[in-house]
Amino acid sequence: MPELKLDRITKHFKNKIAVDNVSLCLKNGVYGFLGANGAGKTTLLRMICGVLKPTAGEILCNGSSITKLDGDYRYMLGYLPQDFGYYPDFTARRYLEYLAACKAIPRELAKEKVQEMLCLTGLESDQRSKIKTFSGGMLRRLGIAQALLNDPEILILDEPTSGLDPKERIRFRNIISSLSKGRIIILSTHIVSDVEFIADEILLMKQGRIIEQGSIQEVTASVSGKVWEYLADPETALRLNDTFAVSNLKNEDNQVRLRLVSDTCPCEGALPVQPGLEDVYLYHFEEVSEHVEHLERRTL
Ligand SMILES: Nc1ncnc2c1ncn2[C@@H]1O[C@H](COP(=O)(O)OP(=O)(O)OP(=O)(O)O)[C@@H](O)[C@H]1O
Ligand SMILES: [Mg+2]
Repeated sequence: MPELKLDRITKHFKNKIAVDNVSLCLKNGVYGFLGANGAGKTTLLRMICGVLKPTAGEILCNGSSITKLDGDYRYMLGYLPQDFGYYPDFTARRYLEYLAACKAIPRELAKEKVQEMLCLTGLESDQRSKIKTFSGGMLRRLGIAQALLNDPEILILDEPTSGLDPKERIRFRNIISSLSKGRIIILSTHIVSDVEFIADEILLMKQGRIIEQGSIQEVTASVSGKVWEYLADPETALRLNDTFAVSNLKNEDNQVRLRLVSDTCPCEGALPVQPGLEDVYLYHFEEVSEHVEHLERRTL
């Protein structure tokens, strides 16, 4: 089973520090890197893949530097980049066969693997369609299929659910769960629900640093006693919404139920409630993640 060690990894772009002294030890399991735009997720993942060289620090796989391991390390990797490129005129099958050849997978095994991946990602019936006719969700699934062709021990997925609708997101989560045994899966997202149910460990990234790390229970415990619910009249709700970080608003008859994050009791009558990962995100990033914005937030 693989073990990845990041030893004081830093990346500078001119005078910008994109990743700042990150040390981690990753073993078997699903790791969800959660952070706002520009937090440094892609930069860190690209260094883990070996496509970007750190300014300082070292990445070790099973005790050896990934630079020294070179091809042996790449053979262990599957990578879905954030800006995954493809050939629009290829069919899905041909594209996967082509990439299998690039990864030096023997021909017979490649055929088998391509078929297996088409089934796993639900693209079997679309395998003869040209990629340019694919929806965003189908493209992401194709991206996951190519990353898995070599049965990688380390799977790195950068924003794998961007552009997916809720149904596709659930499908994606199920695929990841089915793959999670015996490998390291690293995925980055700014959508809490992507990692809430499947990650063994959550890593919150902000301004190039890991600011929280642990199981969902451990990470949510960090905001214990800071999440409140309050049933307010619409006018008070508006005022509270302007003053506090609100993670959810819900109309109930003529009143509004607010869920808000605050170090101290926001108003008399507010009750402390069990925190969720969404609340942790809001506490650290003071912005409502896309999930709440689109699915749960109700206008006043
Ligand atoms: N090639 C580059 N040259 C200069 N600056 C860069 C480069 N790549 C990234 N950066 C900067 O490094 C910081 C981290 O970027 P990165 O893409 O790693 O963030 P991210 O967490 O992946 O964001 P997003 O959620 O938008 O994908 C940003 O400020 C970005 O502008
Ligand atoms: Mg990114």
